[in-house]
Amino acid sequence: MNQRQVVIDTGRCIGCGLCGKVCAAHNIEINNQKAGTILEDCILCGQCAAVCPKEAISLVGCGTGQVEKTEDIRLNPEDVLNVIRFRRSIRSFREKEIPREVIEQILEAGRLTHTAKNMQDVSFVVLEKEKDRIEQMAVKVFKAVKPVADVLSPMARNNQIDDHFFFFHAQSVIVILAKDKTNGILAAQNMEFVAEANGLGMLYSGFFTMAANASRKIKKAIGIPKGKRVAMTLVIGYPNMKFLRSTPHKELDIRYR
Ligand SMILES: Cc1cc2nc3c(=O)[nH]c(=O)nc-3n(C[C@H](O)[C@H](O)[C@H](O)COP(=O)(O)O)c2cc1C
Repeated sequence: MNQRQVVIDTGRCIGCGLCGKVCAAHNIEINNQKAGTILEDCILCGQCAAVCPKEAISLVGCGTGQVEKTEDIRLNPEDVLNVIRFRRSIRSFREKEIPREVIEQILEAGRLTHTAKNMQDVSFVVLEKEKDRIEQMAVKVFKAVKPVADVLSPMARNNQIDDHFFFFHAQSVIVILAKDKTNGILAAQNMEFVAEANGLGMLYSGFFTMAANASRKIKKAIGIPKGKRVAMTLVIGYPNMKFLRSTPHKELDIRYR
């Protein structure tokens, strides 16, 4: 089996110590002008390999290779804020197919998103042929609990559960699976940014996420591995509407102490 580990090429190492400085696990020491690992339980975050000026460090068995950073990439902060300000949840989509490369780019944003303890526990299921069938399974789950929900919540009372209650005829649905929900949600937000940059709109379907996690049948249909849950479900398509202004938000709730 391919053992996952940090490998240091001492022939290339110049003993600059940058790798030790960035190592969150204090796993690298410089001895006789050469870097070496000292622990067994490294989280394999790869910062040592990303910072080394001599490409002396590699992470064996840890997945894809590294991409060289050739220029400083900095977005305009006002543009970033405006993307956040003007993005809206979309519940009406055009009947226009999303190119495969765009879906792959959105998935790449999810794959590259950071995870707690570098768990890299997030995986994705794109609903294609099974989308409608799985949506109907969720509709059935929600219809079964609606009488009780109606008593408890005005939101439930005001909502009719039709056949497209979850996915709104969207072109694509990506189910994000994770061991740690926070990791899945972070991936979701980065994926939304890439979707927006491609002119797409998105809805976080908390309702479908809830139905999927509550139903053994839906879990099986999606194919959720043991130990994982649905962290979020992204409903994606080209928006069928244009918002003309931002929406009101509560005042900033902040204290400096
Ligand atoms: C975690 C999460 C789950 C959500 N689940 C649903 C959902 O199941 N159905 C839905 O119509 N909207 C859902 N939404 C959308 C919210 O209602 C929406 O973000 C909020 O009303 C603010 O509107 P905006 O996104 O257009 O700014 C969800 C949003 C979040 C952040």
